[in-house]
Amino acid sequence: MSAVIIRPEEVGDETAIRLLLVNAFGGEAEARLVDELRSSGEVVLSLVAERDGEIRGHILFSRLWVHNAGERFAAVALAPLAVHPGHQHEGIGSGLVEDAHARLEAQGEKLSLVHGEPAYYGRFGYSRERAAGFETIYQGEYLQARAWDDAAPAAGRLDYPQAFADIG
Ligand SMILES: CC(C)(COP(=O)(O)OP(=O)(O)OC[C@H]1O[C@@H](n2cnc3c(N)ncnc32)[C@H](O)[C@@H]1OP(=O)(O)O)[C@@H](O)C(=O)NCCC(=O)NCCS
Repeated sequence: MSAVIIRPEEVGDETAIRLLLVNAFGGEAEARLVDELRSSGEVVLSLVAERDGEIRGHILFSRLWVHNAGERFAAVALAPLAVHPGHQHEGIGSGLVEDAHARLEAQGEKLSLVHGEPAYYGRFGYSRERAAGFETIYQGEYLQARAWDDAAPAAGRLDYPQAFADIG
């Protein structure tokens, strides 16, 4: 069996990513989110995990703005993350998050937000406490943040891409 390769999404991957998302989430909402983010040009990083020529995992970060004290700070939103149901618990999800974080930090990103299961995202440095000061309709026990820079804001209004509102 060949190794898992994690690489940036390429033109031509769209259909395989869509199928993966529909399979992993059991619905179309996340696939529509990704389609919209691509169209609106708000994707910051989109990676796939490939094995034996087959896309088995996908992670995407889009541009999120933090408005604080009259200033605008560029952050990223992690969503969605998906691994094919037949290949979960093989470390693919963790590999995607860790690889993506290394790339984002190298690109100069300073803050990431996620709305998801704290027991999972806590493994990758996300915490509820770091996100508690933000204003957003997603505020609550599932909103978590991780920063690569202590100077990144811990308060302010989060402005997500329109695509998040569109999928409900
Ligand atoms: C969540 C998901 C991306 C994890 O991917 P994965 O490749 O199976 O994850 P990994 O193999 O890296 O890690 C598996 C570990 O995470 C844990 N885990 C997986 N999903 C979890 C969840 N929702 N809550 C808490 N822990 C979870 C597993 O119990 C496992 O723990 P172990 O290593 O102690 O056995 C995958 O299960 C998935 O695509 N789920 C459906 C879509 C989804 O819910 N995406 C996340 C949206 S927030």
